[in-house]
Amino acid sequence: MEPEIFINFKHYNNAIGYNSEKLLSEFGTINNQKGLYYCIAATDLRLQKTFPSLKIFSQHVDSNSYGAFTGSISIESLKDIGIHGSLLNHSERRIQSSVIEETVKKSKALDFEIVLCVENLDEVKKYSILEPSYIAYEPPELIGGNVSVSTSKPEIIEQASKLCSGKTKFLVGAGVKTRKDIDISMDLGASGVLIASGIIRNAKPINMLFSLTDNR
Ligand code: G3P
Repeated sequence: MEPEIFINFKHYNNAIGYNSEKLLSEFGTINNQKGLYYCIAATDLRLQKTFPSLKIFSQHVDSNSYGAFTGSISIESLKDIGIHGSLLNHSERRIQSSVIEETVKKSKALDFEIVLCVENLDEVKKYSILEPSYIAYEPPELIGGNVSVSTSKPEIIEQASKLCSGKTKFLVGAGVKTRKDIDISMDLGASGVLIASGIIRNAKPINMLFSLTDNR
C-alpha cells in the first residue's frame, strides 16, 4: 500500500508566498499524487485554485463559523476556496480540548478532513473516540531533529495505531527523513507520515519527495 504523506510547509521562509508556489509547482510534477497532501500557510491557501489537482490542507482551523471573529480561519472560509482539510492542534499550535472536540464534530457535519495532532499515547486514547479523519502522533522532542519517531518510539506507534478505530487513520511524524522511516511506521500500523524539515529544509525538496515516494 502506498503511504499517505502530509508535507507541512510550516512557516519556513523557503515555503511561504512565492516560494510556496514554486515548491507546489515542483511537487506537482509527480504524476501520481495519490496520498500526497500539502499543508501550507494560511496566507497561501488560495494557491489551491492555481493547483487544482493538488490536495492542499490548512495548518490550522478554528471552530467558529462566519461572523465577528477577527483573525480566525473557519472551515466555511476554507471550503469556499476549495480546501477540504486541515491540521489541528499541531505541537506548534496547541489548542484547548473543548475546542478540539467542537472542531472535530463540526468538521464531520461539513465533510471536512481533520488531521488531529497529538503528543503522546494518552492523547491518542482521549481523542480517538472523536473519530477525526486522521490522528497524527508527533513526540514534540523529536520534531525538527534527525532521530525519527519510528526509531525512537516504535512501541508507541504500534499501540497507538491499534487504538485508532477503522474510521480514523493513523499517521506518525517528527524526524522522518527516509523511506525506511515511512516503511517501518507502516509496518507498525500507520497509514503514513507527517513530515516537514526532511523535505522542506532539504537542499532539493523535490528530489527528497521523489525518494520518499519511490519515484512514482
Ligand atoms: O508537522 C510535521 C512536524 O511537526 C514534524 O516536523 O521537521 O520533524 O519533520 P519534522
